[in-house]
Amino acid sequence: MKPRPIIFDTDPGIDDAAAITIAIRNPQLDVKLLSTVGANVEVEKTTLNALKLTEFLEVDVPVAKGCSAPLLKELEPCPEVHGKTGMDGFAFPPVTKAPLEKHAVEAMREIIMASEEKVTLVVIGTHTNIAILFRLYPEVKERIAEIVTMGGGLCGGNTNSSAEFNIYNDPHAAAIVFGSGVPITMLGLHVTRKALLHRAAAERIDQASPAGHMLYSLFVHYRGGSLASGLMIHDACAVAYLLRPALFQTEMMSIEIATEGIAAGTTVSDYRAVKNGEKTANVNVCVDVDAAGFETWFLEEFCKTAGERP
Ligand code: BDR
Ligand code: CA
Repeated sequence: MKPRPIIFDTDPGIDDAAAITIAIRNPQLDVKLLSTVGANVEVEKTTLNALKLTEFLEVDVPVAKGCSAPLLKELEPCPEVHGKTGMDGFAFPPVTKAPLEKHAVEAMREIIMASEEKVTLVVIGTHTNIAILFRLYPEVKERIAEIVTMGGGLCGGNTNSSAEFNIYNDPHAAAIVFGSGVPITMLGLHVTRKALLHRAAAERIDQASPAGHMLYSLFVHYRGGSLASGLMIHDACAVAYLLRPALFQTEMMSIEIATEGIAAGTTVSDYRAVKNGEKTANVNVCVDVDAAGFETWFLEEFCKTAGERP
């Protein structure tokens, strides 16, 4: 089967690094671009981190720098989770490559319009770049197979009691993307909090290869859970959904984004309105995950494709 063309829109980010590492050399996927956004840390750092990953993993995937700030609010990064650099814990060799000279939104448009097959967008940061892409170039929408995004949740947040970080950081952009009519699959916190990576699996990854050692070194510094209780490698769930959808139970739901007020950034699913026929179910929501199966998949997938040298 032909590999599926995808673009990662990302803010690496330690769990972003896990997602990218596992996907970027997978023969079922054709990663066309890493487009970056400022979110976990500033966009200069997320872009540098994307370059660090492509160089270290020895892949020829372009990196394009995207938006530095959300559409309407100030950026609120979270170095307390990913470290000051956004990927603290591993001494990557100095980067020799540069990002593309064009903006990520331009790079995405070109790739999407030039691709024979519809492209899948894997959005694992804020939705700022995608919202601008849709506003500037609405013609891309029909050339997109699907957006698979890590963000939101059906029950509680991680930035405050109701909002998840990626949606909280640019709710207006998320509202544009979720309201765009493009097919969306959402992997929210209610699922990604269950999909844990424990110490034993992380240690096997560490031993598998230099790429494994790199990831393990980042995991040790990551504050999204712990190796003892299990790491929440949220963004890797988006890749798991692409490669092993059977791990997830899904349900079509109506998802709207609260953009203002104290609950801004919350993904609201109106069950009653869908039942009454007042609202349409617009998002394919992953409602549950086979957590043990996810961990086994991550370990096996890593050892199979990303575990070769480096
Ligand atoms: C999301 O927020 C970021 O810190 C992670 O990289 C992930 O994309 C989890 O809420
Ligand atoms: Ca991320």
